[in-house]
Amino acid sequence: MLNISQSTTGTANGKIILMGEHSVVYGEPAIAIPFPATHIQVTITAVEGPVQLDCVYYQGNLASAPTHLENLMAVVESTMSELKQELKDFKLTIKSTIPVERGMGSSAAVAIAMVRALFAYFSTPLPDNQLLALANVSETIAHGNPSGLDAAMTSGRHPLYYIKGKPFVPFHLSLSAYLIVADTGLKGQTRDAVASIAQLNRENQDKTMNAIHQLGDLAKQAKLAIESNLPVLLGSVMDTAHETLSFLGVSNETLNHLVRTARLNGALGAKLTGGGRGGCMIALAADKDTAARISAALSDAGAVNTWTHPLGDDKVE
Ligand code: PMV
Repeated sequence: MLNISQSTTGTANGKIILMGEHSVVYGEPAIAIPFPATHIQVTITAVEGPVQLDCVYYQGNLASAPTHLENLMAVVESTMSELKQELKDFKLTIKSTIPVERGMGSSAAVAIAMVRALFAYFSTPLPDNQLLALANVSETIAHGNPSGLDAAMTSGRHPLYYIKGKPFVPFHLSLSAYLIVADTGLKGQTRDAVASIAQLNRENQDKTMNAIHQLGDLAKQAKLAIESNLPVLLGSVMDTAHETLSFLGVSNETLNHLVRTARLNGALGAKLTGGGRGGCMIALAADKDTAARISAALSDAGAVNTWTHPLGDDKVE
C-alpha cells in the first residue's frame, strides 16, 4: 500500500572557484569554496504511476523529459538501480537558486541533491564515496571529463585546495571578510575559453606558461592569505589573477566593467571566477557595509544578480 504522505528532501549548494581557474588544467593548484548563498532542493513525494518531474524547464513524465535534461535522467536511473528499486510511484520537484551555466556548479548540485533525496526516500544510508560516484554519472554527461571538483564542492561544507590528479585537500577558511558574487547574465564559455588558452599555448608557449605558473603561485599565496586571515593580501592576489586571466584572453568587457566597479567601490580585490567570457565575477570586502555598497554598485552596473557571503564562519573538522 502506497503511503502518499511520504516525502523526503535532498539539498546541495553552489560553489565558487576563488583562485586557480584555467591554470588548474595545467597542473597548478586551485581553491574552491562551497557557496551556500545559492542552493538547490530536490523533494520526492509519493505519487502513483510513472515518475514525474517538476522543475523550471519541464513538468511531466520523467521518461519524456527534453534531451538537455538527460544528465538528470541518467543520475536518477543509476541511483534507482543502485537502490534496487523500480522507477515508478514518485514525483521529483526541483527548486534552485543556483544560476545555470555560470560556473557555480548547478549541474553537479542538482545531481547531489537528487541522489541524497532518493537515498533518503528509500531510507538507505549514503556514504560520501557513493554519493560522489553517482553525481559523476551526471557530470560525465554534462561536462565530458569532470575533475570531480564540482561534485565535491556542492556536496561539502569546506573549502578545497585542489591539484589535478591528487586528492582534494580540505582547509580552514577563517577570513574576516565578505565575498560578493555577481552574475553578468551571460552564459559562461568554459569550453571555448579552455580551448583558446590551449591555442595560445601552441602559438607562444613561454608567454602562456609564464602566465599559468603565475596563476599557480597566486593560488598558493591566496591559501596562505586565507589561513593567516590576511584579507588585504587576498584582495591584491585576486586583482593580479584577474589581470593575468585577462592577458590569457578569458575575460570580456562585461566582466572587466564589473571588476572595475567593485574596486572603485572599495573592494579589496576582484576577479572573474570559473571559465570566464561570461558567468560570474567575485569581489572581496573588508566589512558588511562595504559589501552592501559593492553589491549595490554591481547591480547598478548591470549585474543581473548578486550574493554576499561571510568568509569567517567555516570550521574544518
Ligand atoms: O566555469 P566552471 O566553474 O566550470 O570552471 C571552469 C574551471 C576551468 O579551470 C576553467 C576548467 C577546468 O576544467 O578546470
